[in-house]
Amino acid sequence: MQVVRKMFALLRLAVLTCCWLIAHCTRTSQVADDNDADLYLTSPELIAKYGYPVETHSIQTEDGYILELHRIPHGKSEPADTMRPAVLIHHALLCSSFDWVVLGPQKSLGFILADSGYDVWLANARGNTYSRKHVSLDPADHKFWEYSWHEMGTYDVPAEIDFILKKTGQEKVFYIGHSMGSTMFFVMTSQRPEYNEKIRAMIAFAPAVFFTPTKNPIYYRIQSIGERLLEGLFYAFGLDEFLPQNGILNPISIAACKHTLFTSRLCVNFIFFIVGKSSQLDKKRLEVMLAHTPAGGSTREVMHFAQEALSGEFRQFDFGEEKNMDLYGQATPPRYNMSLITTPVALFYSDNDKLAPEYNVNKVYNALPNVIGKFRVPLKTFNHLDFMWGKDAKTLVFKDVLTIMKKYEKDSKT
Ligand SMILES: *[C@@H]1O[C@H](CO)[C@@H](O)[C@H](O)[C@H]1NC(C)=O
Repeated sequence: MQVVRKMFALLRLAVLTCCWLIAHCTRTSQVADDNDADLYLTSPELIAKYGYPVETHSIQTEDGYILELHRIPHGKSEPADTMRPAVLIHHALLCSSFDWVVLGPQKSLGFILADSGYDVWLANARGNTYSRKHVSLDPADHKFWEYSWHEMGTYDVPAEIDFILKKTGQEKVFYIGHSMGSTMFFVMTSQRPEYNEKIRAMIAFAPAVFFTPTKNPIYYRIQSIGERLLEGLFYAFGLDEFLPQNGILNPISIAACKHTLFTSRLCVNFIFFIVGKSSQLDKKRLEVMLAHTPAGGSTREVMHFAQEALSGEFRQFDFGEEKNMDLYGQATPPRYNMSLITTPVALFYSDNDKLAPEYNVNKVYNALPNVIGKFRVPLKTFNHLDFMWGKDAKTLVFKDVLTIMKKYEKDSKT
């Protein structure tokens, strides 16, 4: 096992070196200095750079993880002392709070909400750049990574919400979740239904809940091979962290995507390959985005999604029959009971989203008892990541989000 681990470390080093060499040798154009500076900034530093008030709070979950919350308490030119409804924004798999501020005040949701009169809280799930601490475990321990979005929904989100309510003296928050950020919300409100009472309304961007195999049998075959492969790696080599990140910056992305036309095109194409092509990507800002993404997460998070894709069900982690019996008292993992999710939920989806296509969003729509509505983004090429990185997301998506929030602000005065 030790030998295999060493081989992996060597392989990673080799890949890194190659990336660096390619990047160095194909260096063609200098991108704006502004980008260079932002490569090394944390979320709070970037928020402060744009002249907004910012706070960092550390909170502890019931199972000992220490998470960082980044807060933009109000807009730039607004008084600090009025009551503003709090909104908690939760990022997707391998993402962080940075993704909600990376495009600046005109385009990024964090700033747009602050300037629209909200008290903005940006979450960081366990294991990402900002939330790699635990009362007794270290990221170098296997045990640190023994979680999926099940634990995030059961422990992280409730801890964040309780902290915000206590800090602001409000009774309810708004919740916005992108992809896995919506998955963990549905886990929370079905596993701990008392949290429904603490939410004014929930906005789901590209909800990642059902992954019914598509009608395409070849795609399904690829999916299942992918899962087997991942499972093999997971158990054979004990890979705890998925796409690890060393410190604040991601050396592979920086080396490969920085400054060069050739390699940044490679990066873009790789991203497009996974999530679908987009006309919305701000290429000038790409290197800054990639310097902060992937932001870290456990292999089990990815495995749990892969299991959903195979089973077509929204259910707890599958540990195999024997351990399932011990843990759940049944051979297959129990389903999340979505009829317990009584929070009003608005579902946003887009045509060019391979990960949350319309037919799977419809399944969520039908399973939820209190849906505000289904909102299709009016741009054919809008993809899974454009909800955070799209340069026109403000007009295509956030405008409608603000309208919904205004309505639910009135309906649920606290
Ligand atoms: C799910 O919750 C509903 C509402 O409380 C309940 O009637 C139903 O029996 C639950 N389903 C399961 C499978 O537990």
